[in-house]
Amino acid sequence: MKIKLNPKSQIVVLTGAGVSAESGLKTFRDNNGLWENHRVEDVATPEAFRQFPELVWKFYKDRYFQLAQVKPNPAHVALVELENFLGDNFNLITQNVDGLHFKAGNKNVIEMHGSLYECFCSDCNNRFLMKDIDLDLEIPVCSKCRGYLRPDIVWFGEIPYHLNRIQQIMSKLDLFLVIGTSGIVYPAAQLLPIAKSCGAHTVGINLEEPANLLYLDDFYKGLSGEILPDLVKQWIGKV
Ligand code: APR
Repeated sequence: MKIKLNPKSQIVVLTGAGVSAESGLKTFRDNNGLWENHRVEDVATPEAFRQFPELVWKFYKDRYFQLAQVKPNPAHVALVELENFLGDNFNLITQNVDGLHFKAGNKNVIEMHGSLYECFCSDCNNRFLMKDIDLDLEIPVCSKCRGYLRPDIVWFGEIPYHLNRIQQIMSKLDLFLVIGTSGIVYPAAQLLPIAKSCGAHTVGINLEEPANLLYLDDFYKGLSGEILPDLVKQWIGKV
C-alpha cells in the first residue's frame, strides 16, 4: 500500500537486534543462538547470574566494549529523519540495549529491555553508569554496599521496562512499523497484533519472515539499512 504521512500521523516503531546488524552487532539468534558454547538464554537469566555471575558479566562486558566500535547505520539515520518529520507523534520502542538509536539522534526512545550503558546493585538497587565502575573486576561491586552489581538488562523471566508508557502510546496510532526482530520474544512480539487490532496499518522489515508475519499488512524482506531509508523518503514525500 502507498503510504503518505503528514506531521500529525501517529507512528510507533518497534526495533530488534536486526536493525543493528548492519552496524556490526550480532543478532541474538545468530550462531544458532550460541555464545562461547552457551545458549544465549543461559547467560541472560537471573538464575544464571546467581549461579555464574563471572560468566554473565563476561558476556555483557564483551558486548559493552564492542559498543565503542560501532556506529548507527542508515536504518537508524532514517528513523531520525522520521522523528524529525513527526516530532512527538513519533515513538520508538526498542528491544535493543546498544543505545544506537540515541547515538543516531532519536529522542523519543523507550528501551524496554534496558541498556548496556548502565548497571545496578543486586542488593541495594543503587544505579551506576558502566563507565564509572571497575570493569577489571570479574564481578563489579557496589561502591555503597559492596553487593554484586548486575547489568541493567531485562533478562528472561523479568518484566520489561516502561510497560505503562508503552500501553499509553499503543492506544493511539495510525502506523506500526516493526524492524529487525524475529517476533518470538514476548511481550514485545505481542505489540504487532495489538497494533493491528487497534486498526493501525502495520509494516514490517526483516531479513527473514518473522514469527508474527500474519499481522503485517506490508512486509519487506531484506536489509533494513537498504530498505528503510527509501521507504521513509516516500512516506514523508521527499521522493
Ligand atoms: N535487517 C533486517 N533484519 C535483520 C537484519 C538486517 N540487516 N539482520 C538480521 N535481521 C533479522 C533476523 O532475520 C532476525 O529475524 O533480525 C531478526 C533478529 O532476531 P533476534 O536475533 O531474535 O533478535 P530480537 O528479535 O531483537 O530478540 C528479542 O530476545 O534475546 C532476547 O532480550 C533479547 O531483545 C532481545 C529479544
